[in-house]
Amino acid sequence: MTNPILVTGGTGRLGRALVPQLLSDGHTVRVLSRRPPSDEQTWGGDLLTGEGLEEAVDGVGVIVHCATGNGRADIDGTRNLIQMAVRAGRPHLVYVSIVGVGRVDMAYYRAKLACEQLVERSGLPWTIQRTTQFHELIVWMCKSQWWLPAIVMPSGVSFQPVDAGEVAARLAMLAGAPPAGRVPDMGGPEVRPAADLARAYARARSSRRRPVVSVPMQGAGIRGYREGGHLTPEHADGRITFEQFLAA
Ligand SMILES: NC(=O)c1ccc[n+]([C@@H]2O[C@H](COP(=O)([O-])OP(=O)(O)OC[C@H]3O[C@@H](n4cnc5c(N)ncnc54)[C@H](OP(=O)(O)O)[C@@H]3O)[C@@H](O)[C@H]2O)c1
Repeated sequence: MTNPILVTGGTGRLGRALVPQLLSDGHTVRVLSRRPPSDEQTWGGDLLTGEGLEEAVDGVGVIVHCATGNGRADIDGTRNLIQMAVRAGRPHLVYVSIVGVGRVDMAYYRAKLACEQLVERSGLPWTIQRTTQFHELIVWMCKSQWWLPAIVMPSGVSFQPVDAGEVAARLAMLAGAPPAGRVPDMGGPEVRPAADLARAYARARSSRRRPVVSVPMQGAGIRGYREGGHLTPEHADGRITFEQFLAA
């Protein structure tokens, strides 16, 4: 019997898709969560305080680190996780990051890059998978503006949204394989202008026409987006389009 796999962030968007995949691949899974454990799979713990971490990493063969907070805190959480893992027999650490973390100048991306560097220098066997934005993020961008008369999107910016379930399948494969270092990026099937995606969302949500307005936005992060730093058209590996995601 192989050692269990610990999934941090197993209660999040990506983690909720990953855990069933790992289970169906025959792995024993532990889910780290700050919430009170509701089943025997969930291990109470907090990456920031370190509470419960020692027990959670004890005896695991692989950690898939999906947990995330506001970015800055991710650095401390990742450092704590690595410290415990080094003491606990050096499991394979699989980290999920974002395409373009070194190219797009945003606080969250800088934090993700710092976490990648911690993983690379951890002394643990490691794998890092960068992916593009999940479909849910585009939905959230549109949904949070639904109360406005129009959806506002940054002009000149495109996204390449990917299905979190497909990312989970990739992570499950990596978790079952030997450590591979930085693996090729993973992106969704299509690079689409932000406004185009917002129109698709509005069509799927309501028969009433909802205008979409493209507005020039300032800032280093938006510039990085405009330059396509967060895109990976050469790795359009995902199959599920935004419309298919919305329909499902
Ligand atoms: N969303 C995207 O578009 C996207 C794109 C590319 C890459 N990614 C990466 O994919 C990963 C997963 O993203 P997601 O959108 O699925 O995240 P999410 O839905 O926001 O979930 C965050 C998870 O982190 C856990 N968490 C936060 N702080 C914690 C702490 N101090 N201790 C323990 N657990 C903690 C939460 O668990 P509890 O609340 O149960 O404690 C929750 O399961 C992240 O690394 C993110 O950067 C996301």
